[in-house]
Amino acid sequence: MSDERILSPQPVEDDLQNELSLRPRRLREYIGQHKVKENLAVSLEAARRRKEPLDHVLLFGPPGLGKTTLAAIITNEMESAMTSTSAPALEKPGDIAAILAKLQKGDILFIDEIHRLQPIVEEKLYSAMEDFELDIIIGTGPAATTMKMQVEPFTLIAATTRAGLLTAPLRARFGIVHRLDFYDVESLEIIVRRSAEILTIPITNEGAHELARRSRGTPRIANRLLRRVRDFAEVRHEGKIDLSIARDALHMLEVDEYGLDEIDRKLLTTIIERFNGGPVGVAALAASVAEDRGTIEDLYEPYLIQIGFMQRTPRGRVASRLAYEHLGYPLRATMPKLF
Ligand code: ADE
Repeated sequence: MSDERILSPQPVEDDLQNELSLRPRRLREYIGQHKVKENLAVSLEAARRRKEPLDHVLLFGPPGLGKTTLAAIITNEMESAMTSTSAPALEKPGDIAAILAKLQKGDILFIDEIHRLQPIVEEKLYSAMEDFELDIIIGTGPAATTMKMQVEPFTLIAATTRAGLLTAPLRARFGIVHRLDFYDVESLEIIVRRSAEILTIPITNEGAHELARRSRGTPRIANRLLRRVRDFAEVRHEGKIDLSIARDALHMLEVDEYGLDEIDRKLLTTIIERFNGGPVGVAALAASVAEDRGTIEDLYEPYLIQIGFMQRTPRGRVASRLAYEHLGYPLRATMPKLF
């Protein structure tokens, strides 16, 4: 089991320093996700005025869009402390009980990948979330008794890429639920420029636009590409990122015009070449490209679907007309009109 209680503002000290230093710490610094930000600002202000902990928060959406960042921002805005863990680390009811027992009034408990919670652990969370109570079992066998233990009022912030996998009783216990969407290019461009400034990388507006455009709507990818393109700019050029250097570097990184990488393209070419365009079940597709099924579902598919390159049908995944055109395949004679 691993968990850590971090006092805000967060200390930054490990390998992830770069990544962490790029994360906004306050809601006003957070770019994009306008509706989520606006709603959260109201919830935060109301909780602060009432001097009560914020309602429990569920954040869902594809990876890399800022769920963990938002949890840290909420912690900062509430001037509280955050204990951070992830559902796979909570193996037994005792694991969650130990964390809950240590919480102080107003603390934030962040649980990542909440869809992977064990049912027996999830059950323990219910009474803690609802009544700030914990049932502790003392002893074993017929002599075992339960005792109620009070938990300090806290806020659970849970994050998941798969809200559909949450049980209804768990979902119902979150008062604040927000879905993070892919970012538009304008927002990503601002994020790239902000990150470049923090990392002191000179970049032109056209260079920032090119990176933003090819970041699959995802700040984490934008920041990663920025660092790789900086390497290229420093080694092969004078260190400044402009449009032509961005294009050359992205070409070398095999990131195409739509921001698709090698695996995105492999998924699409596999559907087209091996499965005649689909439909193909995700399990068969995963086996064919030797990728983990969950990774395909969480990381790759959502963006391919978003840009209309792939469709999820009841009979499986289908490559769209756009995918055929982009990858240079002749359209199938039998291609459904819809695609
Ligand atoms: N870095 C990563 N995500 C960000 C966001 N939404 N706003 C500002 N900077 C970010």
